[in-house]
Amino acid sequence: MAAKKRPLVILTHALPPDWIKELEEKTRLVIGPEGGEGLTQELESNLHQAEGLLTLLMDPVKEDLLENAPQLKVVSNMAVGVDNIDISTCTERGIPVGHTPGILTAGTADLTLALLLSVARRIPEARADAQAGEWNSWNPTGWLGTDLKGATAGIVGMGKIGSAVARRLKPFGVDLIFTNRSPKPDLEEALEAEQVPYSEIVPRSDFLCLHVPLTEETHHMIDRDTLRKMKESAILINVARGPVVDTDALVTALRENWIRAAGLDVTDPEPLPPEHPLYELENCLITPHIGSATHHTRRNMASIASQNLFAGLENRKLAHCVNPEVYD
Ligand code: DGY
Repeated sequence: MAAKKRPLVILTHALPPDWIKELEEKTRLVIGPEGGEGLTQELESNLHQAEGLLTLLMDPVKEDLLENAPQLKVVSNMAVGVDNIDISTCTERGIPVGHTPGILTAGTADLTLALLLSVARRIPEARADAQAGEWNSWNPTGWLGTDLKGATAGIVGMGKIGSAVARRLKPFGVDLIFTNRSPKPDLEEALEAEQVPYSEIVPRSDFLCLHVPLTEETHHMIDRDTLRKMKESAILINVARGPVVDTDALVTALRENWIRAAGLDVTDPEPLPPEHPLYELENCLITPHIGSATHHTRRNMASIASQNLFAGLENRKLAHCVNPEVYD
């Protein structure tokens, strides 16, 4: 009996061989380049036969691509966010879409705290000044920052990551307020936090931390008007998605000191080109979308993405599916 041909799978971006061992064994894998974005010509030429697509968060999976992939049984995104994927078209075509929630919660929450503390205590500026020879004595008025104790931290989006950030912030003695689409009385009680309307969290927060997915509703949620309503001493932290913040408005707000500073792990555009004005601002700390960048987390993201992909190829339900209605 002829052995069953392994399904063709496109992996858009090269990953370490030991992260994709099982993928290599179970599928015919066509792999894109490291550092690539979207499908290369070579990957595109394989689309018509591909049964599985394993993508990263910057790979657009839209109608045109899906049109050219008539055999596609599953799209598996190695990310929790799926704003790069046209979910409704996938659903219409009967294609389940997988993602990797949970595993990156701790890493992303840790990075949020790292950014918040670094910006609050002006660590990048202090380091740069010291290296530039401006550390001349112990300066009683030099590099003064913001205390966490007694400050109000506002969490926008109290999902897995938002609540993990809140839990980490609590022991610092902050007052916690948050917004969420649905009421969260359990978290209000457990964290002694107050759920407030969006219009209230903005003017009350000393630290405003964004943990919402990118949707039509959250696009430019932080715009000129919002920035104008923040405290002058406030610090904005974005580890969610760049377009949640209107970048031009943020540049103005930081330049003109409408707010004190920002810590951004995500930007719009992304990657942020080296000549971008945000880099010139001392009160803006930028990291290149590294919220989930730990060895443990990234390896596990690859593993969950692979398991979602195998389930789709074998017509089983995906463990982490963003469009479960596809099974109705
Ligand atoms: C995600 O998975 O959506 C994150 O942004 C990756 O760090």
